Amino acid sequence: MLKTNAKEFEKELIDLCEAFFDDQDGMPEIYHEQMIAGNLFNIITIDGEAQEFEYPMPTGSELKQKSLRKRYALLSLYKALSKKFAKTLPWGSFTGIRPTALAREAVESGEIKEYAVSEFLQREFMISQEKASLANKVIKNQKGIIKNDHLVDFYVNIPVCPTRCAYCSFISSEIKAVKNLMPDYLQALIKEIRAMKKLIFDKALIVRNIYVGGGTPTVLDAQELDMLLSELSFRVNEFTVECGRPDTITREKLDVLEKHGVSRICINPQTFSNATLKRIGRQHTSMQTFEAYSLALEKGFKVNMDVIIGLPGEKSATIKKTISTLLELYPNNITLHTLCVKNGSVFKDEKPELGFKNLSKILTFAENQLMESGYKPYYLYRQKHQLGGLENVGFYRDDDICQFNIDSMEETSSIIAVGANAISKRVFSVEKRIERQPNVKFLPEYIQRIDEMIERKQKLFNNV
Ligand SMILES: C[S@@+](CC[C@H](N)C(=O)[O-])C[C@H]1O[C@@H](n2cnc3c(N)ncnc32)[C@H](O)[C@@H]1O
Ligand code: SF4
Repeated sequence: MLKTNAKEFEKELIDLCEAFFDDQDGMPEIYHEQMIAGNLFNIITIDGEAQEFEYPMPTGSELKQKSLRKRYALLSLYKALSKKFAKTLPWGSFTGIRPTALAREAVESGEIKEYAVSEFLQREFMISQEKASLANKVIKNQKGIIKNDHLVDFYVNIPVCPTRCAYCSFISSEIKAVKNLMPDYLQALIKEIRAMKKLIFDKALIVRNIYVGGGTPTVLDAQELDMLLSELSFRVNEFTVECGRPDTITREKLDVLEKHGVSRICINPQTFSNATLKRIGRQHTSMQTFEAYSLALEKGFKVNMDVIIGLPGEKSATIKKTISTLLELYPNNITLHTLCVKNGSVFKDEKPELGFKNLSKILTFAENQLMESGYKPYYLYRQKHQLGGLENVGFYRDDDICQFNIDSMEETSSIIAVGANAISKRVFSVEKRIERQPNVKFLPEYIQRIDEMIERKQKLFNNV
C-alpha cells in the first residue's frame, strides 16, 4: 500500500514498489511526501518509520525540473526500500523501458559527458555496476546509426500464428480462428501498402529497412507470401521476415523470400529443451529448429534467434544447455529475453524454478558467454512484469547489426507500420519527440476500417 502527495509521479512510484515486492507477498504501508523548501526533500515513511532525502533544487526548463523531481522521488523511494528490506534491484530506481535512451539524452543535453554514462546510471538511478556497464556497451555499439527525418522503416504486421504459445504476451490470433478472414485481410493489407507507397513517394521519404513481423508471418502459405512480398518493392538496406516458429518454415516459402530479396529471417528456438517446448505449448521440437536453420543457411539468409530465460520448469542446467547450443549454431543475431509474465497469463503465479537470484545470475552468465564468444550487445529494453526486474538484450556478431531492432526498440527512427495492431511512429529528431498512430488491433475491424487506417498515417506524415 503506497500513499503519496507527489500525485504527478504516483504511477511510477507504484511501478517501483511493485517491482520491489514482485517476489514477496504484500506491500508494507508506505507514505511518500515531497516538499520544496529551498531544496527538494523527499520523506519516505515505511510502516511508521521515516527516512529523509535532500537534493539541490532542480533548475532548467519546466520539463527538466519535472524530470529531476521524478528522478529524485523514485531514487528516494528506492533507497528507503533498499535500506529497510536489505534488497537491491538490478535496474535500481529506473522504472522505464529504455535505460540507453535515458543515458543518450543525458549526453545530448549536456548533463553528462559520454565517458560518464556508466557512473551516471549508478549514481542517479542506483543501477548495478554490471547493468550500467551493459547499457554503456550497448550505446557504444549503436554509434553511427544515422538519424534523418526523411529515412523511415516499413513494418508489416501479420498478427496470426499456427497456435498460441502459453507464455506469449503479443496480440495474435490462431490461424484456425481467422482462416476465413485471411483473403480479406491480405487485400486490406495490400491496399494499405499501396497507399503508403504513394505517401512515401509524394513526401520523398526513403525506406531504409523492411520488417515483416507478427505473430508468425510464415503462417501464410507460399502463394500468399509471394503476393504480399511482391508489394514490398523498395530498395532497402535490410529486409527481414520474422519466420519465428520453425514449424512454419519450408523450402518453398524460403524460395519465395529469396526471390523477393529478403536478407534476414528470424528462427526462434526459445529453448532447446523439448520438454519445456511442450510445457509452454510451443508446437515444435528442437530438431525442427535445426532443420529450419540448416535450410536458411543453405539459402544464404542471415539469421536472428530469440530465446527466453526463466521459462517455467527450467533450471540453470537447461538454460546453460540452450546457450551452448545457440553458440554452436552461431546465428548472426541472438536476443536473450527474460520471461515476462503479464496479469492474466497462465504462468502468472509461477515463480521461476531456479529462484529470482539465480535467474539474475544465469542471465548475466548467458550475456557474458555470448560476449566471450564474440557477440556484442546492441539493443536493450525492459518490460513491465519481467521476472526479477531484468531485461531483454539483442546481440550481433561480425558487425552484422539488425538495424530495424535498434530503430524500433530504441525508437530512433520513424516507422510506417501497416496491418492490424501495427503502430506507426514519427520521430521528430530535432524537437526530440515522437508521435504514434496505432491501427486497430483485430482483423475484422481492420478490414472494415482500412480507409481510416490509411488516413491516420497520411495525417501523421502530412507535413514532412
Ligand atoms: C513478436 S514475438 C514473435 C515471434 C514469433 N512468433 C515466435 O514465436 O518465434 C518476438 C519474441 O518475443 C519473445 N516473447 C514473447 N512473449 C514473451 C514473454 N511473455 N516473455 C518474454 N519474451 C517473450 C519471444 O522470444 C519471441 O520470439
Ligand atoms: S508463435 Fe510467437 S507470436 Fe505466436 S503465440 Fe507463439 S510466441 Fe506469440
